[in-house]
Amino acid sequence: MEIVPEMVDKNTWDKVINYIAMSDEQPPYLLMDKEMIREKISQIGRTIRNAKVFYAVKANPDIEVCRIVAELGLGFEIASEGELRILAQIGVSADRIITSNPIKTFRFLEEAVRYGVTYFAFDSNAEVDKMARYAPGASVYVRLTVPNEGSEWPLSKKFGVEIEEAAALLVYARDKGLNPVGITFHVGSQCNNPYNWQHAVDKAKELWDMAEAEGIKLKMLDIGGGYPIKYTKNVVDIATIETKIDKVLRQKFSDDVQIFIEPGRAVVGDAGVFVGTVIGKARRGDENWLYIDVGVFNGLMESIGGIKYTYIVGSRGEEKTWTVAGPSCDSFDVIDKEATIAEPEVGNRILIPSAGAYTISYASEFNGFSIPKTILI
Ligand SMILES: Cc1ncc(COP(=O)(O)O)c(C=O)c1O
Repeated sequence: MEIVPEMVDKNTWDKVINYIAMSDEQPPYLLMDKEMIREKISQIGRTIRNAKVFYAVKANPDIEVCRIVAELGLGFEIASEGELRILAQIGVSADRIITSNPIKTFRFLEEAVRYGVTYFAFDSNAEVDKMARYAPGASVYVRLTVPNEGSEWPLSKKFGVEIEEAAALLVYARDKGLNPVGITFHVGSQCNNPYNWQHAVDKAKELWDMAEAEGIKLKMLDIGGGYPIKYTKNVVDIATIETKIDKVLRQKFSDDVQIFIEPGRAVVGDAGVFVGTVIGKARRGDENWLYIDVGVFNGLMESIGGIKYTYIVGSRGEEKTWTVAGPSCDSFDVIDKEATIAEPEVGNRILIPSAGAYTISYASEFNGFSIPKTILI
């Protein structure tokens, strides 16, 4: 493992190698590079005028990760009482918290209101009714459907409404005593297509004007998350994406409009490296199978939705194409069907970079395998 792999930052790599050499911690575990989190935060929201950044806690809710984010002054986007409690423990005030999940549980809504959170997304009449009852007078923003083309993790089907319906919902919310303040959308996670944001901003502007014609003066546009990170290929960088977004925002919206950004993956993804172990090898038919101790259920859930990871082993063995599988008995537990890896020995370490987002937060103890520990370095 002496050369720095192409997809990993050199400083992060050095810290990871140093940690593995010095520690007797048993894999699997997730190492999170604190400096990389800080570096990524410094890049986000820089090129968009009047922007406020809210970290999407679901990407990695580790309390020490949240503490770093809080210390750097960001806000937080949350969806559950569990996420709220983490923020409460580190003293994040309610005015730094928003919730963009358009359908909230009663319990979460009650706890969020009690804590003092006032910003909530919605996309249905039923949610307006719920909020009018449990969060009267709340500041609410409607979720618009936007194109998710080019996103590796599309998010457009479950939530969002088209422009006309969104306008009617804003009116309905106002009539129910809520305070309609804005519009939100999500272009899909791991979005490598800046055009999605441009198209979404165009759509939002149409809705903005429609609301104004109904006497509703909005003040906030939430452009969601979606900034991509490097897994196996290079991606468009944040400054390029933001420059394009900012250009269309300036064309369409006045200077006083507050822009919210809700990145998750881009804040923490690059900072994480899974450290695991090769636990088995087999030849099945004409396939080479490699078994490791991190799988779909205990950390690499996104692999089944199409996220492809890079696997790094110290071996100088022959390069082969592998089907890579996790440790559980479930045949669903396959994380890659064609990974090129130099043949390792059973017992060797295997490192998986770009694993800081949507890994531990998805993990379960299925089949009795522990959720890997998160360790900040
Ligand atoms: C409402 C909302 N905001 C923000 C995010 C973060 O998105 P990303 O991790 O792609 O930046 C998500 C991801 O699912 C989301 O659902």
